[in-house]
Formats: sequence, structure tokens, C-alpha cells
Amino acid sequence: MTFVEAAPAKINLYLHVTDRRADGYHCLDSLVVFAGAGDVLHYQPGETPLTLKLAGRFGAVLGEDAAGPDNLVIKAANALRTQAGPKAAVRGGTLVLEKNLPVASGIGGGSADAAAALRLLDRVWGVQAAQADLLRLAEGLGADVPVCLLSHTARMEGIGEVLSAAPALPECGLVLVNCGQAVSTPAVFRAREGGFVPRAALPERWENAQALVSTLQSLENSLEAPACALCPTVEKVLHDIAAQPDCLMARMSGSGATCFGLFPSVLAAEQAAARLADAHEAWWVWGGALREGA
Ligand code: C5P
Repeated sequence: MTFVEAAPAKINLYLHVTDRRADGYHCLDSLVVFAGAGDVLHYQPGETPLTLKLAGRFGAVLGEDAAGPDNLVIKAANALRTQAGPKAAVRGGTLVLEKNLPVASGIGGGSADAAAALRLLDRVWGVQAAQADLLRLAEGLGADVPVCLLSHTARMEGIGEVLSAAPALPECGLVLVNCGQAVSTPAVFRAREGGFVPRAALPERWENAQALVSTLQSLENSLEAPACALCPTVEKVLHDIAAQPDCLMARMSGSGATCFGLFPSVLAAEQAAARLADAHEAWWVWGGALREGA
């Protein structure tokens, strides 16, 4: 029997760098949402040692070397094993990670995969760890893993580990575009110039996509300018998304290079994605809805 877990892409609708800690990590304030697009983790339990295989469009790009002990999915499995009590049935077998999302691209790929592994193996092994324990394990795996563990809209603060409820989101369409150039997160943080940006003031809810966008337009992604300096194609991507009919706004997610566009409807987003994909065969383009229930 094979078990399956979705690892949806995360999008930072805004991302303010509010401070810098003594250890070099940056304090953030971000509204994180999840897309209908994502990687998929498959697990066939067995008695052989746990192994990972990569599949999908970006699995081939990564190559088999990326499926070793440094892969965050294997690290997540090992972390969960240490958490498992005597009643849990920790097993081996085969994990297959279907990499549909571009790697090192600011939409959480590796973090979403690690979070999916925690959720899936917790369930199948019967670990039944408390949510607080899973969040602690997630935090040890990377700054974006806790929010990916929730995989629903949340406000993210601290270095990523402080999560709180976010205002209800209106219906809107989403386009994601990646130009194919991987961007290093530490390099983007290092290239950042200027001071810090205050925590955002958010309303309790937004009536419609236009209202959400007017709030977002007064906010920013503090990593967009340094990412554009390191990878100038990001500017072209932002320009081409913004030029689509009905596009309400275009912005980069996380440390890039993936950018998103918000649209008044899912249909408008799908149509824009089809046009962008036609015009740029080398780009990864996705259009659709936010994750259901997200
Ligand atoms: O935690 P994670 O491994 O995803 O972070 C990758 C790198 O990004 C860190 O080593 C750090 O350089 C940078 N980072 C940061 N502040 C954050 C998150 C990440 O400076 N809040």
C-alpha cells in the first residue's frame, strides 16, 4: 500500500525584514499563503532501510545525489524517529518525492517536502506526536518548515517559528513564474541593503481581491531588491506578470526567484499563465487557485 501527502508551495504575500539577530538570522513579518501547486510525497512502507527516490520534472534536474542523507525529507524522517515512543511502528521502505516545484526558488519546495514527510510519517508510523512537538522538529529543519507543517494561511514572525492566525483571504487567482535560475537564500539576505521595515498593520479581513491588493501595495518583500541585483531576470518576470490583462499586482516570493501575480479570478490567472507559458518556454509557469481551505 502506498501513502501520499501533498507538499504545497508557499507564497509570501509580503515579507518584511524587521530585525537581525545576533546569530545572523533575520526576524521577519510575513503573510504566508499556499498554492494548489506543489510537490507530492509517496511512501511505501517496508522492512528495508528507508530510502528516497526523486521523480517529476525537477527531480530529474536535481539528480539522484540529492536523495542522500542531506535531503530534508530524510532529515525529517530521522528527526521524527527520535520523537517516536515505544508504541509507534517506525518502518523502512521507499519514499518517492515527486518534485513539481522548481528548487531553491522562494516557494518553499524543500521546506514543504520536509513538512510533508513529518505529517505523512507521523500518521503512517502511528507516532501521533503533539503538534507542538512536530513544530519543534520542523523548526530544527529550517526556518520555513513550521509554516509548511501547517500548510494553511498564517502570519509568520520570529525567524519563521512564530505563527499566528491571519486575516481571512478573499477569493483570488494566483500565477507563479520561475525563470529557471536558482537563487541562494543566504546570498540574498547578505546582499540586502538598508534598514529594517516595521511589522505590518493588517485588517481583520478583506472584502475582495482588490482590497487585499491595496493593503499589500503599502507593504513589500524586503528581499526583492537584493534578489533582482543577484538575478536581474526577476525584474523581467515581474514586468511580464504585471503586463497581463487583469493582473492586480506582481511580487517576488521569499528570497526568490519565483514571482507571483494576483488576479481577480482563478480563470483570469489560468489565462495569464497560459499566455506567459506560451511566450517563455523555458520558464516554469503555474496558474490557479490558492490551496483549498488555505
Ligand atoms: O533556515 P533555513 O535553512 O531555511 O535558512 C537558510 C539561510 O537563510 C540561513 O542560513 C540564513 O542565512 C538565511 N535566513 C535568515 N533569516 C531567516 C531565515 C533564513 O537570515 N529568518
